[in-house]
This record gives sequence, structure tokens and C-alpha cells, in this order.
Amino acid sequence: MSAVHVLNGPNLNLLGRREPAIYGTATLDDIRAMLEKLCAERGMSLVFRQSNHEGDLVEWIQEAGVAGAPVILNAGALTHTSIALYDAIKGADAFVIEVHLSNVHARESFRSRSFISPAARGVIAGFGPLSYVLALEAIFENELRKS
Ligand code: DQA
Repeated sequence: MSAVHVLNGPNLNLLGRREPAIYGTATLDDIRAMLEKLCAERGMSLVFRQSNHEGDLVEWIQEAGVAGAPVILNAGALTHTSIALYDAIKGADAFVIEVHLSNVHARESFRSRSFISPAARGVIAGFGPLSYVLALEAIFENELRKS
């Protein structure tokens, strides 16, 4: 397998100090370190990125699609607004797992709508940083099944 790509959208650079009652105190670097360790244990490499700009995420999804790399995507608020990300996933034929730290269905009603979910392989939400770990486990399992 090529590297696992973990893509993070707007405001996730603020993790650790952003609404800690909702998102917890782990920083994005903490999450990166945790995933790096898990990938290293499996002999896999990790591409871990964050951007506040929709176009960056579109390009990174396209890139992962070309590489045939699985994607863990936390699109942040773009989850609830972005047809461009939906199109990028469909267009790239990328294997994408949508993740959220918070349980988006237990929050404001606008967060229950996701433009990512219909194009995603699966969705994991509500477990804090563990959401990313569970998504990685799903990718490992999926790769094992292929080999
Ligand atoms: C989020 C949930 C989104 O609704 C929000 O806009 C975020 C973070 C999460 O990880 O819980 O930025 O994706």
C-alpha cells in the first residue's frame, strides 16, 4: 500500500485550545504523533496535512486518488458545505473515511448534514482523537483483506 493520507480542514490547526470542552485538549501534532507511531508499527508511511483552504483539500484528495492511497478526512466545517470536496472524492475514486472528533449528530442541526458521507467509504465521529485511530484500523483491515 502507498502511504495513508490524513487530511484536516479549517480550524483544526487550533486543536488543543479550540473549544476544548468539545474537541478536547490534544493538539493536531499529538494526533499526528499517535498515527505516525501506529503506521510505523505496520511498516507504513503517513502523509499528514492540514489546511484552512478548500482548494488545498481538493488537490490533496486528487493526489491521493492518483496514488491509490487511502484517506482519512476530517474536513471540519467544509463537511457541511462543500460540494467541491464531494466531487473531488467521487472524481478521484478515492477510498475515504470521514472522521470527526465530536459527535456531529449531537450538536447543532446544521452539523448533521454531510456532503462527504455519501462519497465516503465510512464515517467515524464522536471519539475524539480515537476517531482517527479507528479509521486507521479500518484501513489496515481493508488492506489485509486485499492482500
Ligand atoms: C469537526 C466537526 C465540524 O462540525 C466542525 O466544523 C469542525 C470539527 C470535528 O472533528 O468534530 O471543525 O469536523
